[in-house]
Amino acid sequence: MRSWQGDGIFYGADYNPEQWPEQTWAEDVELMRRAGVNLVSVGIFSWALLEPAPGRFEFGWLDRALDLLHDGGVRVDLATATASPPPWLARAHPETLPRRADGAILWPGGRQAYCPSSPIFRERSLALVEAVAGRYAEHPAVVMWHVSNELGCHNVHCYCDVSAEAFRRWLRERHGDLDGLNDAWGTAFWSQRYGDWAEINPPRTAPTFANPTQQLDFLRFSSDEQRAQLRAEREVLGRLVRQPVTTNFMIGTGIKYLDYHSWASDVDVVANDHYLTAADPQAHVGLALSADHTRGVAGGDPWLLMEHSTSAVNWQPRNVAKTPGQLRRNSLAHVARGADGVLFFQWRASRAGAEKFHSALVPHAGPETKVFREVCQLGADLKALAEVRGSRVDAEVAILFDFEAWWGIELDSHPSVDVHYIDRLAAMYGALWRAGVTADIVHPSTDLSGYRLVVAPTLYLVRDADADALRRYVEQGGTALVTYFSGIVDEHDHIRLGGYPGAFRELLGVRTEEFFPLREGERINLDDGSTVDVWTEWLHPAGAEVLASYADGPLPGVAALTRNQVGAGTAWYVGTRLDDAATDRLVARLVTESGVRPAAAAPTGVEVVRRRADDHSWLFVINHTDADARLAVTGTELLGGARCDGELVVSAGEVAVLREQPAAEAD
Ligand code: GAL
Repeated sequence: MRSWQGDGIFYGADYNPEQWPEQTWAEDVELMRRAGVNLVSVGIFSWALLEPAPGRFEFGWLDRALDLLHDGGVRVDLATATASPPPWLARAHPETLPRRADGAILWPGGRQAYCPSSPIFRERSLALVEAVAGRYAEHPAVVMWHVSNELGCHNVHCYCDVSAEAFRRWLRERHGDLDGLNDAWGTAFWSQRYGDWAEINPPRTAPTFANPTQQLDFLRFSSDEQRAQLRAEREVLGRLVRQPVTTNFMIGTGIKYLDYHSWASDVDVVANDHYLTAADPQAHVGLALSADHTRGVAGGDPWLLMEHSTSAVNWQPRNVAKTPGQLRRNSLAHVARGADGVLFFQWRASRAGAEKFHSALVPHAGPETKVFREVCQLGADLKALAEVRGSRVDAEVAILFDFEAWWGIELDSHPSVDVHYIDRLAAMYGALWRAGVTADIVHPSTDLSGYRLVVAPTLYLVRDADADALRRYVEQGGTALVTYFSGIVDEHDHIRLGGYPGAFRELLGVRTEEFFPLREGERINLDDGSTVDVWTEWLHPAGAEVLASYADGPLPGVAALTRNQVGAGTAWYVGTRLDDAATDRLVARLVTESGVRPAAAAPTGVEVVRRRADDHSWLFVINHTDADARLAVTGTELLGGARCDGELVVSAGEVAVLREQPAAEAD
């Protein structure tokens, strides 16, 4: 790992000078200095300009832009520029274009129109990386390299013949021989047995449900193919440059098909892009989840927020602008949760192109605007927070997350279309957020021993080793909560026999003999007053104590919530979809019983998170409510906006960061 941190918090944006006449560049740098911007990503979509014809490179404009930035004291995260191939590539090699499952070609004219398995794309893109890295390896402005951009955002699944060949190669690696593949895919079913590798295809549009393990393996393959591009570019950079390398992940924006837990080791800096779902009034909770998951992917280390928006985006149905103060709350929430850099898409709002209505640091209306004023304010805030750089976030709760479990649980022909992976994750996370408790979102193979509480929401697919690790964690005194439709299948999507929830049956001390999903909109009652929907199951306690049962619905009297004593610990199971109030009550009870402590006692809607270094800790307080908040905490407030004399008063919509000295007590 190459070290990537600067002397404070990075602040900046994607900067696309090629969209503007050079006269504008000087003003850009002047405004960047005013705003406190110290890092910009350059060249992300510049391939067609840098290589206007095959093998003919034109670097003059980029030389001038980088020099200007350097003179202005702005550092550069330089892109390999491979994110979107130029039109000449598809013209010369139409076979590089991706195909959908139904065979339709995805044409150039947007972006990312390439087949991820194309050897031609790979060769041309690496030639570009060689050229760019060779030219700018020693440029004094460049402090970081940015591979491609959001790999797999639009072209993650390609079903063309080139991809089919690559898929077969990948399957040989994974399964060894056809017997292995036939077993893993369960091809005794529906006459699917393969006698020759050439018979195997990606799961192209079929008359009915495609083999689920074929689908799952194709999703794994597709994530690996995108990762292979990252690794190939990184290999070139590894030879030619000495700066750290990153690429921007898309954790927590609904992007499902890239297994970032497995990608993290390929970058020096885990970087993430996050955009709010404007329609969601609680979008700041989703933001926190995304940040906590990014930190989980980064193994708890600081990470970089590579993109978010100053205000509205352009790609949602209704692109709601941010209200005054929201930009600051959003940005500092990422810092609270471990970001050591806050960057945006993009510096200056475009005049032309598909993203011209996307907000930026410099809006169409110019710097005399709410957005630019808030941008300057944020620059000052981040400067004041320089000392938190490198510190880590306190978390006593782990939530297990596995992209493969997400893929598996949402395959077709399952008991209910109303079971969604993110649903219970968000519900459990939301309840913790409201309780002021920070959680790490981690892969199930993570060492859990340091956590007081571990939550496994709808962990449908689980490997034996990971299920065993959760059992050992509980035996040794931990507290676990597992929700319905967990532990159901192994890594081949084969059912674990003997009763549900398969891999967790013994841990939980229950045995379910049949699922009873509810009808659309059906809501029933538990005997403790909670209401539930979507899911019920015919569960038999097998050692576990019953805490609540169904009062009505298809299974009156059957247990819905159980607790099992295992070794020195406790394993809870919730076999149904609790309403929000019941989820809050359950999580509050688990928090208390497992000894988890909130970062600070705060009113609901006031976000509290603690970062910690050896001698100091910092308490971030973000007031999302419209009332002033009072907290009984002491320390030195760093942003200069809040009073702290015996108690901290954070005005409605404001943010405070307290340096606590000595550091607040940890374990
Ligand atoms: C990201 C992408 C940027 C820009 C942005 C708009 O997905 O990396 O290039 O398109 O979204 O929100």
